[in-house]
Amino acid sequence: MDYKQAYEKLERYEQQHVLKYYDELTAEQQQVLLAQIEAADFENLKYCKDNTTNLRGKITPLAAMQLEEIEKNRKRYTETGLEAIRKGEVAAVLLAGGMGTRLGSDEPKGMYNIGITKEVFIFQRLIENMMEVVRQADAWIHLFVMTSDKNHEMTTAFFKEKGYFGYKEEYVHFFVQDMVPASDYNGKVYMEEKGKIAMSPNGNGGWFSSMYKEGLLEVVREAGIEWLNVFAVDNVLQRIADPCFVGATIANNCVAGAKVVKKVSPDERVGALCLEDGRPSIVEYYELTDEMKAAKDEQGRPAYDFGVILNYLFKESMLEEIVDGQLPLHIVEKKIPCLDEEGNCVEPEAPNGYKYETLVLDMIHQVDNCLPYEVERSREFAPIKNPTGIDSVESARELCRLNGIEL
Ligand code: UTP
Repeated sequence: MDYKQAYEKLERYEQQHVLKYYDELTAEQQQVLLAQIEAADFENLKYCKDNTTNLRGKITPLAAMQLEEIEKNRKRYTETGLEAIRKGEVAAVLLAGGMGTRLGSDEPKGMYNIGITKEVFIFQRLIENMMEVVRQADAWIHLFVMTSDKNHEMTTAFFKEKGYFGYKEEYVHFFVQDMVPASDYNGKVYMEEKGKIAMSPNGNGGWFSSMYKEGLLEVVREAGIEWLNVFAVDNVLQRIADPCFVGATIANNCVAGAKVVKKVSPDERVGALCLEDGRPSIVEYYELTDEMKAAKDEQGRPAYDFGVILNYLFKESMLEEIVDGQLPLHIVEKKIPCLDEEGNCVEPEAPNGYKYETLVLDMIHQVDNCLPYEVERSREFAPIKNPTGIDSVESARELCRLNGIEL
């Protein structure tokens, strides 16, 4: 793309200020900026003042498959799941492209050491859990790891340095998620440097399209993968490619499944699986009305009582039908390092603009059905979002101890 073409593209989106310092750049920096403009998707920015994409339909409860029922069928479901794993039909997708800002470490979240007497990295915990299933099934499971531009090199180097924590290297596939421009409150993109647009990861909803853009569809096809178990990096207790969960989803003829936990209170800050206009969906805790909080199921228990833990199983063929563009856009306020009026780079102390994201939870609304599958929270839910307090390194360590994991 040459200067004129770049200018024309920017003009279409009213972003010509991106070229303000063009003449001050070296020839090499100019080329880098032109390439960035060519690759950048400015479409999202037009929604910055009109964020109406998140309007909701009619929300009704969706009953979860609960622990007692799972227990009754555990043997059968587990066999079904193991059979699928042995045939190579199940793969896992680790979402590790987030910034982990709340944890406050400059390194990728998965590199965080939660050990006390020895090193226990978050990535290591996840791999250890996967290894249990690999041993049980006596079959390797493909693991796709989504990183971002900001943490890709550190993540891949770390896995290499640690010998993939004993996992088989050829079964681990890294891919980088797409980045999108970040903007001020008027939808004007910020510049991070005079020759560089401020970019931010496009949210965890972009995993499927990014995975395919990087050509991983071939691996999926060649290996005959039919199910993708997507999970977050920060839950150090979660079971991945859990045979019983996979088997329950298959046995109930569902195209998706979501692990859920019983909420500790109706106000707990987790999304609840529900129906929206008759299709599966997730209602956020802040969207629950008093009436919904008071609603009861057939057994007289709270009807929106099961929260999602970012561990979903998707039938792969179903995902190919979902176009990324259909996912609603979430516009999130953020602190974006940018140039001030004089062209100096500043690190803002308060949010100064928006980043534009799609979320994996919105994919649930795109599929025809989804099995809410209850797991015991003290055994499978230890998310690390913060250094201390709720959902923290401290609380996760305590839960690891309860589960006999040496730290
Ligand atoms: P969170 O919403 O907890 O975000 O991500 P985060 O970036 O890890 O942490 P904060 O909010 O900055 O403190 C949930 C999961 O989605 C992944 C994260 O890595 C985590 O596994 N994620 C999030 C991505 O892979 N890409 C993104 O753009 C955002």
